[in-house]
Amino acid sequence: ELHRIPHPPHRLPVVGDVLGVNVRTPVQDSLRIGRRLGPVFRRKAFGKEIVFVGGADLAAELADESRFAKHVGLGVANLRPVAGDGLFTAYNHEPNWQLGHDVLAPGFSREAMAGYHPMMLAVTERLIDHWDREQTAGRAVDVPGDMTKLTLETIARTGFGHDFGSFERARPHPFVTAMVGTLTYAQRRNVVPEPLAPLLLRTATRRNAADLAYLNRTVDALVRARRTTSGEGDLLDRMLDTARPGTGERLAPENIRRQVITFLVAGHETTSGALSFALHYLSRHPDVAARARAEVDRVWGGTARPGYDQVAKLRYVRRVLDESLRLWPTAPAFAREARRDTVLGGVHPMREGAWALVLTAMLHRDPGVWGADAERFDPDRFDAQAVRSRAAHTFKPFGTGARACIGRQFALHEATLVLGLLLRRYELRAEPGYRLRVAERLTLMPEGLRLRLDRRVPAV
Ligand code: HEM
Repeated sequence: ELHRIPHPPHRLPVVGDVLGVNVRTPVQDSLRIGRRLGPVFRRKAFGKEIVFVGGADLAAELADESRFAKHVGLGVANLRPVAGDGLFTAYNHEPNWQLGHDVLAPGFSREAMAGYHPMMLAVTERLIDHWDREQTAGRAVDVPGDMTKLTLETIARTGFGHDFGSFERARPHPFVTAMVGTLTYAQRRNVVPEPLAPLLLRTATRRNAADLAYLNRTVDALVRARRTTSGEGDLLDRMLDTARPGTGERLAPENIRRQVITFLVAGHETTSGALSFALHYLSRHPDVAARARAEVDRVWGGTARPGYDQVAKLRYVRRVLDESLRLWPTAPAFAREARRDTVLGGVHPMREGAWALVLTAMLHRDPGVWGADAERFDPDRFDAQAVRSRAAHTFKPFGTGARACIGRQFALHEATLVLGLLLRRYELRAEPGYRLRVAERLTLMPEGLRLRLDRRVPAV
């Protein structure tokens, strides 16, 4: 029942809507197409047709958990060989979703988070050592590269007591290279027609098998090491030791492997992107940076190592982060399927199991919600009053419902802490001539972003 949903005008036989699009930037192409076609549209390539939703009213309907649920499709489904029935890629009906959720949710409680805080601080101090050296040497810093080191170390240490030694390396850790390989491959599989995949992706498929084997080996070694020592109540301990109350069920070893990969990947890539976009905007908006910095000085004062409770007090820094995630939600879409036959927006019939992709980046720029200047960076959109007056389900960087992000508080705490510490120590200068380019590998990441730093005179 798609005939009422517009599609790009020049649809070719067999190949579909492939004119003027780039296989490397499906999200940005869809944003562009959505601007012309409106709140719901469809794109077809090689027989696969996808319905995109970017309008706030329709997205709010799709967020209704009584009518819709998460759909495991496209990029998420393509990650099944990597993450199996781990939390992110599990089908709703798979028993390991609920079991994994019950075992792991306490790992994101307030108490657990307060326990991770000192490790997050220590990792950020490693980053600052590195940035101090780069600054002294007069070099610009590689923002996405360094944010990825930071977030990988953070999830590895807090979740699994593991140190990848990222800051001791000049190049990304091979785990990161393998992960980026599998994410890029999963995205390519979306756009290459199934029958042609063996031909077009032959080398990539072989490469992907090697990446996957590397991820498995790394994780197996990490779990083996833990079976002989004990952690300090981190995520891995919970997976190995927790029996579900009542039934006594435990996670099976194969599932633990899947969960560890899931958390190592989901737990750092998107946070790294969020931090990178925020630093980009801070470098471009000195007024915003000055206001955020003044808040850090006021709230943290001379405290060298802010405590857990002092992070959430950085309200304005948090708004900078929210506004960055509005413009560039680093997990840029999520899919929703009908629980039973229904009609979307009163006009588009959907059969049970039919699904649509919520294009978060487009929802976050809907002029009906965010105004005619929706493309402009303005953290005040997230002041308490503005948030209260906005409709529900208009800001969804962490997805929605039962399958929304389990690591939301973790990511927000980590990113706010890091931005606070960096703002306090440095002035950020954009490199002349840099224009934001966004790389896509299922997630979004600024490409080639480098910043110059000036050390601040420490606040008294
Ligand atoms: C799920 C975004 C950080 C672990 C999700 C979903 C989104 C998302 C949109 C839902 C996907 C869907 O509906 O298909 C983000 C963003 C982050 C972030 C933007 C950072 C800014 C984290 C962190 C962790 C994490 C730090 C772990 C420490 C997960 C897991 C799921 C998930 C395990 C699957 C939950 C389930 O289905 O039960 N995330 N995430 N994420 N995220 Fe995050």
